[in-house]
Amino acid sequence: MQAQINGITLAFNDQGTGLPIIFLHAFPLNRTMWAQQEEALSSQFRIITIDLRGHGESDAPLWHYSLDQAADDVRGVLDYLSIRQAVFVGLSMGGYILFAFHRKYAEYVKGLVLADTRAQADTDEGKRARFEMAQIAYKQGASAIADMMIPKLLSPATIRTRPELVQRVRTMIEGNQISGIAGDLMAMAQRPDSIPFLNRISCPAQIIVGELDLPTPASDATLMADNIPNARLAIIPDAAHLSNLEQPCLFSETVRTFVATVSR
Ligand code: MLT
Repeated sequence: MQAQINGITLAFNDQGTGLPIIFLHAFPLNRTMWAQQEEALSSQFRIITIDLRGHGESDAPLWHYSLDQAADDVRGVLDYLSIRQAVFVGLSMGGYILFAFHRKYAEYVKGLVLADTRAQADTDEGKRARFEMAQIAYKQGASAIADMMIPKLLSPATIRTRPELVQRVRTMIEGNQISGIAGDLMAMAQRPDSIPFLNRISCPAQIIVGELDLPTPASDATLMADNIPNARLAIIPDAAHLSNLEQPCLFSETVRTFVATVSR
């Protein structure tokens, strides 16, 4: 489906009925990264996966991006679908957007799944790396970004033994426009520190992390779990940063169990 939201076209899937679960993807992927979760959970819940601004089939305007604006886009999709409350699942950049969304629109949030993400802002070195990555995207294109990102996103074993999954991730990355990739990098570099905000999250929260995650390791997950008052932590074995793709069944079951407790 597509809708005009905040002056651009945003694409999303809306499948199933019941309590809505909104899935926000990682950088620099798109909503198809949630295909297995959609399949596993849509017989029980209403599953909405959104291509964030700059990704997949959504517009990628050449302009300034921010995570607050991404949160406004998500709110726009919810309003378009007349959804007043949902459980939200965000992986990595999707999690950063959920911090922004919760700050602005807490009344919409029944539960939060923060997967392979972190509450800290970028360090100065991290910001410089974002700048350099944007220059590589601009000069060499999205396939150079795929070359850089894949070893950070997937475990060495997956890269060695699952060429079809590696290709699926590469295709998602290469499908993005440079305006979207650079826009995200600027938005992530400018995001605020969310640690002081963690103890204000009053809804139930499920933290998930792949045990082999390097960009947002288990220590980042523990920090969130220790500071969000009503949080639980799940560590997914044999998975790195894209834990939902490397261990789709375990990831979906963790979400299913969490949502069942939230909707009681
Ligand atoms: C992501 O997976 O969304 C990115 O690794 C997030 C980041 O670069 O901080």
